[in-house]
Amino acid sequence: MAAKAKKREVKIREMRVDDISEVYRLGYRLFHSLEPTTLYRTWDAYEVTTNFNQDPRLSLVAEAPSSRIVGFALGTTYEKESGSWKYGHLLWIGVSPKWQGDHVGAQLCHEMERRMHEDGVRMVFMDAARSNAGALKFFKRMGYGKPESEVWMSKIIQAQPQKKKAAGQKKMGLSKRLRGRRRLPARP
Ligand SMILES: CC(C)(COP(=O)(O)OP(=O)(O)OC[C@H]1O[C@@H](n2cnc3c(N)ncnc32)[C@H](O)[C@@H]1OP(=O)(O)O)[C@@H](O)C(=O)NCCC(=O)NCCS
Repeated sequence: MAAKAKKREVKIREMRVDDISEVYRLGYRLFHSLEPTTLYRTWDAYEVTTNFNQDPRLSLVAEAPSSRIVGFALGTTYEKESGSWKYGHLLWIGVSPKWQGDHVGAQLCHEMERRMHEDGVRMVFMDAARSNAGALKFFKRMGYGKPESEVWMSKIIQAQPQKKKAAGQKKMGLSKRLRGRRRLPARP
C-alpha cells in the first residue's frame, strides 16, 4: 500500500499585494501546459489582481518557512436571485511541484471552505479539465463529487463577405429595429 503523504508545515494566509507576482508566476508554471477548462477564464495577471481586489478573504497563499509562496487558492461566492443559497467557487488552486503531495493543497482547500462557510456558503463548486486526472483525484479526495455534464462546443468561424447596401437604404435606428421585430408567441 502506498504511504500516506506527510503534512508539510506551511502558513496559510491571505494574499498580500507583494505576493501577486509570485502567485501569478507559480500559476503560469502550473496552468500554461494544462488544457484550458473554460474559455471565460484563463490564467493571467488580471485574474489574480481581480480576485485579490474583489475577494481578498478568498485569495489565499501557502507560505513556506523560507517565506516563499508554495501554493495559492483563489475563490469567490455567488448568490442567485431566485434562491436563498449562497454558493462558493474554488476558481484556482495550485501547489509548487516540489511541494505537491504533502497536503499543502488540502490545507488551502480546507481553509477556503472554512472561510466560505463562515461567509454563509452552503455549496462549493470547482471545475477542472477532464484530462487533468491529478486534480480530479485531489478534488474527489477533498470530498467533491457529482460532476455535472455540461458540454462545451466550439467552431472556428471565418469572416463573411459583407453584403453591399442597396442604393437609398438607410441605417435603421434602434427603435425602428425593435418595432420591426417579430413578437415572441405567448408562453402557454
Ligand atoms: C491539484 C493540486 C492543487 C493538489 O495539491 P497537493 O498539495 O499536491 O495535494 P495534497 O497533498 O494536499 O493531496 C490531498 C489528498 O489528495 C490526494 N491527491 C492529490 N493529488 C493527487 C493525484 N495526482 N493523484 C492521486 N491522489 C492525489 C493525496 O494523495 C491526498 O490524499 P490523502 O489525504 O489520502 O493523503 C496540485 O497537484 C496542483 O497544483 N496541480 C496543478 C494545478 C491544478 O491542476 N490545479 C487544479 C485546477 S485549478
